[in-house]
Amino acid sequence: MSGYSLETFISDCENQAASGDEPSDIVRAITPLMHRLLGGTRDFLKPEHFQTEPDHYARNLVYAAEGTGLSLYTLVWLPGQWTPVHDHGTWGVVGVIEGLLEEQNYMRLDADQTPERDVDIDLRRGGLVLLSPGSVSTFVPNPDHIHKTGCAADRPRCVSLHLYGRTLNSFHSYDDQAGTRSLIQAAHNETRLGQHE
Ligand SMILES: [Fe+2]
Repeated sequence: MSGYSLETFISDCENQAASGDEPSDIVRAITPLMHRLLGGTRDFLKPEHFQTEPDHYARNLVYAAEGTGLSLYTLVWLPGQWTPVHDHGTWGVVGVIEGLLEEQNYMRLDADQTPERDVDIDLRRGGLVLLSPGSVSTFVPNPDHIHKTGCAADRPRCVSLHLYGRTLNSFHSYDDQAGTRSLIQAAHNETRLGQHE
């Protein structure tokens, strides 16, 4: 569907985020909006949003609200590039622009999931999801949604669009073998900051 601009999408999402609704209701409301945005002209996507990095997947900022509000990034995955196992500390809505995005989910089995504990974390691999262009996936926190996402080595480049409920400049990275996690800073490319006007 054409005629749904990035500015309108952001405005609609900000209204949802400010609604005070549960995160699961917020992502439920935003899911069809992301699907509609992906089905439009996508003319908000500029060459800088398709930047790649040779050594790891690329995060390219599309929009960031002031303070700790919404943020929107393209993630560009060259074949064989993956995130670490991670969480987000917020809700998120992910749409696929091109390629196949693979998502490996993890389940945290230790009963005491106090937010400050970074050791003795019992993670098991859960199901796997393969998302094609136009697909939309969501997650909500508390307990954290833990997964890793990427592009299989034998597939072409994948590009996806990620909306988060906060500026995602850090997140927990998990070592599922050691049962530990650490907070890491998340760098991004910011060639053109798409501030909402
Ligand atoms: Fe993620």
